[in-house]
Amino acid sequence: MIKAIKGTSDILPEEIVNWNYLTKIVQDQMKYFNYKEIRTPIFEHTALFSRGIGESTDIVSKEMYSFTDRSENNLTLKPEMTASVVRSFIEHSLGKQSGLNKLFYISPMFRQERPQAGRFRQFHQFGIEAIGSHNPALDAEVIQVAYEIITNLGIKDISVTINSLGIPEERAEFSNALKEFVADKKNQLSEDSQRRLDTNVLRILDSKNKTDQEIIKDAPSILDFLGSESLEHFESVKELLTAAKIPFNIEPKLVRGLDYYTHTTFEIISSKVGSQSALCGGGRYNLLIEQLGGSSTPAVGFAAGIERILLACKAEESYTLEEEKIDIYIVRLNKELESKAFEFASFFRKNNLKAEIDYSARSVKAQMREANKYHARFVLFVGGDEYENSQVQLKNMENGEQKLFNISELNKIIEIV
Ligand code: HAM
Repeated sequence: MIKAIKGTSDILPEEIVNWNYLTKIVQDQMKYFNYKEIRTPIFEHTALFSRGIGESTDIVSKEMYSFTDRSENNLTLKPEMTASVVRSFIEHSLGKQSGLNKLFYISPMFRQERPQAGRFRQFHQFGIEAIGSHNPALDAEVIQVAYEIITNLGIKDISVTINSLGIPEERAEFSNALKEFVADKKNQLSEDSQRRLDTNVLRILDSKNKTDQEIIKDAPSILDFLGSESLEHFESVKELLTAAKIPFNIEPKLVRGLDYYTHTTFEIISSKVGSQSALCGGGRYNLLIEQLGGSSTPAVGFAAGIERILLACKAEESYTLEEEKIDIYIVRLNKELESKAFEFASFFRKNNLKAEIDYSARSVKAQMREANKYHARFVLFVGGDEYENSQVQLKNMENGEQKLFNISELNKIIEIV
């Protein structure tokens, strides 16, 4: 038997209700904050991601699903949306049409990571990209959107962590200081961190290795390397978050796994979902648009992992959804009336009622069982003496009341149901 690919999963009907609920909350918040939806293709030219996310990042160096198509194009299933949205922003000159573009998305992503709870190879993100402003109010707004969605889903056990990575010059000075700090402990570092010393030294700071963590415990803080403009920006973000009543911690070791960040970075962490605890992450990326061929344009955004958020909802039992009920189930008393039941169901469905019938020539008892399984609010009995008299019987399943209707008056049933 052919099975689903490792790290991918089917989302079955009983689970879809949660996805739809989450999607509705995301869409509502996007309306309140005035973000407009954007959809980009599932695959892009590989160069977009290698240039956008950074060659030395884990995503680009070992996790991308890249392939060559029959025309020798190097293509990649998108591992994240930011580079893709920026490509679209540049390609369609969205910056010329409007000073500030506030965009949101919900989309599958692909990364060849080692699958485990909360980590998949095809997963889904929703996120936003606010392109066209330096204003720290947008950094705060982006964090607020993520916070509102997560808390509106009833998830409580979270912490918001923020940091600033400043501008490249400040980061370069900090990188040198960090290299110096670990220089005499180099051999004790994990293999990954030793490699990162040369390629991407900042990433040592978020190593999960215990020895690495012990070594960098007292490492210098990037915040001590920020100039006055970067510090001012960071101060404003903190003030605005406080004004918006969003509790946060400052974590100078929060560097994130993508290279495009400048200034603010943030994550929202759940303590209820195990080791893959980042429900979302993002930050400012003022240089990416220019780097990908556009004109210099500041931007900030975040993306959240839908599977992880739903895991957190489950772990916290953060909401309960009422089971979906159907409006009317048509029970036919004998098999010959199957086409009549079909006709009535079509009529109700055309009139926007959720209607169901039996497709398996089952007994009346079995049809009633099915009506109960679907939590039918009403059952319509078709058959017997009543039907001989051109009538049908409607039963209200909530209070047991029954009423006869002429077949010519099905409209009246619609009014009641
Ligand atoms: P990211 O931190 O790579 O950032 O991913 C954002 C979120 O996607 C994570 O916090 C996590 O919830 C979810 N996620 C990532 N990888 C997986 C996986 N393998 N399985 C399940 N969930 C996963 C970005 O993608 C940036 N584009 C965010 C951003 C937008 N920055 C600025 N704008």
